[in-house]
Amino acid sequence: MASYKKPRLRDLALRRLLSVVFVTLGGVLILIFLLGSSNSTLNNGIKDLDIVDDGSRYRRDLKFTKMQTLPQQSDLSLRLEKLNLLPPRNLDLYPNLAKDAIIVVLYVHNRPQYLRVVVESLSKVVGINETLLIVSHDGYFEEMNKIISGIRFCQVKQIYAPYSPHLFPNSFPGVSVGDCKEKDDAEGKHCKGNSDQYGNHRSPKIVSLKHHWWWMMNTVWDGLNETRAHSGHILFIEEDHFIFPNAYRNLQILTSLKPMKCPDCYAANLAPSDVNSRGEEWESLIAERMGNVGYSFNRTVWKKIHNKASEFCFFDDYNWDITMWATVYPSFGSPVYTLRGPRTSAVHFGKCGLHQGQGENKACIDNGVANIHVEEPDKVANIGSDWNVHVYENQPGYKAGFKGWGGWGDDRDRHLCLSFANMHRPSKGTTSPL
Ligand SMILES: *[C@@H]1O[C@H](CO)[C@@H](O)[C@H](O)[C@H]1NC(C)=O
Ligand SMILES: *[C@@H]1O[C@H](CO)[C@@H](O)[C@H](O)[C@H]1NC(C)=O
Ligand SMILES: *[C@@H]1O[C@H](CO)[C@@H](O)[C@H](O)[C@H]1NC(C)=O
Repeated sequence: MASYKKPRLRDLALRRLLSVVFVTLGGVLILIFLLGSSNSTLNNGIKDLDIVDDGSRYRRDLKFTKMQTLPQQSDLSLRLEKLNLLPPRNLDLYPNLAKDAIIVVLYVHNRPQYLRVVVESLSKVVGINETLLIVSHDGYFEEMNKIISGIRFCQVKQIYAPYSPHLFPNSFPGVSVGDCKEKDDAEGKHCKGNSDQYGNHRSPKIVSLKHHWWWMMNTVWDGLNETRAHSGHILFIEEDHFIFPNAYRNLQILTSLKPMKCPDCYAANLAPSDVNSRGEEWESLIAERMGNVGYSFNRTVWKKIHNKASEFCFFDDYNWDITMWATVYPSFGSPVYTLRGPRTSAVHFGKCGLHQGQGENKACIDNGVANIHVEEPDKVANIGSDWNVHVYENQPGYKAGFKGWGGWGDDRDRHLCLSFANMHRPSKGTTSPL
């Protein structure tokens, strides 16, 4: 790690120093030329110039970082990146978002038969028409697109991960000629790549999930015109999460109760962290470890996560959620709790018959038909503002010390991941004072 960082930082610092000297000298000369040599104007002039220069220096750094670390884009990748700038759809039907709207981000790959079920469930969510739905695509798939472009129940914005391995058929982040595969010996075979802790080389299909999640987080919080100024909560869901009609109203209640009822909670969840549980149905709020179904947090928490970019990007596990549990959350220094209701408002479903040892009420879908039953209590907000909080301490699960499942050993993936964190703002490393 150190051997990567040092030369680059020194290089950056040198360039920055040179550019500051150059711009400042140039500015001084212009000022002297324009204003004559009155001392007071000159001083003020230099101060102003410093401010202006800060901005340009920042932009130049960003450009430099991008040129240096982001891969060469394909035509498709460039075209999709342009689509990310389009305004949301349905602005004619929903010209304004409600005050304090909780933005919803749905991240998807390529399971149209699942996505249809999720979109259908979202269409019945009370309050969804008050907010913006952002759909983040990993790869470009016509059928997925068609489902999203048919949505009329709220503002919708589609974004595409421009560096998805699925968009690069013969170069990184896809597979390049000469890449090592599986358990190849890089030296013996003269192939390219670093194996993970178990001796396996990268597989683009496997790394794409963690890349997409991290690109999406950085883009949604820091890159989009529509959301850059949003400081409240954003809810994240996936293409196999069925959302109940009361999800949005429940989430509004949870996020408003969180500061009083659970100041230690970082997030609010729609579903229990145990994905097989539908909740306890107690008259109580629950605080427990962060789950990966229907989680929402605000910009303060995002900043904490973003500060741990190198922990996230260098941990040898291809799962974003296990990476968060094993490295990012433990690095916050105190337990990371989330607040939820006692009855789930979202369920993770899969294909029927694939989950061995699961009961019959395991949510699943066959031929586009889901077996998820929405009952009366799931249709209206069902969380009491006067309830106490039941805290689950020391729950089992991945935690600090877990070494990771591997799949994330290649330096190219680790650095692509880091450059996503630097896309929209300078990282800690590139803002060394000058
Ligand atoms: C949202 O939908 C509800 C119920 O259908 C309706 O009463 C409300 O006016 C809609 N709000 C917006 C902003 O479209
Ligand atoms: C950014 O969003 C604002 C509204 O939030 C809009 O007025 C403006 O035109 C947008 N700018 C671009 C470049 O899309
Ligand atoms: C965001 O959430 C955190 C954790 O719950 C809280 O400490 C912080 O005050 C919140 N920030 C804002 C701006 O509401």
